[in-house]
Amino acid sequence: MLKLGVMVSGGGTNLQAIIDAIDNGGITNAGIKAVISNNPGAYALERAKAHGIDAVCLSPKSFESREEFHKALLGKVDEYGLDLIVLAGFLVTIPAAMIQKYRNRIINIHPSLIPSFCGVGYYGLKVHEAALKRGVKLTGATVHFVDEGVDSGPIILQKAVEVLPGDTPKTLQRRVMEEAEWKILPQAIDMIANGRLKDSGLSAAKEEEE
Ligand code: GRF
Repeated sequence: MLKLGVMVSGGGTNLQAIIDAIDNGGITNAGIKAVISNNPGAYALERAKAHGIDAVCLSPKSFESREEFHKALLGKVDEYGLDLIVLAGFLVTIPAAMIQKYRNRIINIHPSLIPSFCGVGYYGLKVHEAALKRGVKLTGATVHFVDEGVDSGPIILQKAVEVLPGDTPKTLQRRVMEEAEWKILPQAIDMIANGRLKDSGLSAAKEEEE
């Protein structure tokens, strides 16, 4: 049974998709041990509590320095003995020490088809604003492993979503969530939990290490 930690900053609709998939058998061999937020007001924490999942808030503001916050974050992750850390709308940069220690065990969902509209500055609605500005007809979402760069780790799954005439950043954001994010994030977790990652970035990452 894979022990998951889900890290969040906001509403937690991706967290909800993971909870639902565990409940309805879309994800097997995995359970959520803890939900960790940097934001005390994150609704995702309520979703976790409603499902009897440990909901932890570690706010950078409660620490004297970034270093102290990073230490506490890593300490919390270690304490739970997590096998896989899922970044589901987590808006804090992951400390380098955690990336090293948990290499190929941290995944992230990004609301575009990487390598488009990703990297520094592309988060939240900004991603969809940029896609609309460029006039792409297809966008989507990507699940990838987290490495030292921004949105640069090995890709696990992607799903395309059509951009429709009259779309605003908000309508596009919602469609990308409904049609792509809430599907491929649980799917990727299920693949990892059941050892079905043969043709993905994980094997590529492993080969590089060897
Ligand atoms: C999603 O669009 C995700 O792709 C991005 O942040 C958003 C989180 O939404 N990284 P939610 O908190 O899961 O509702």
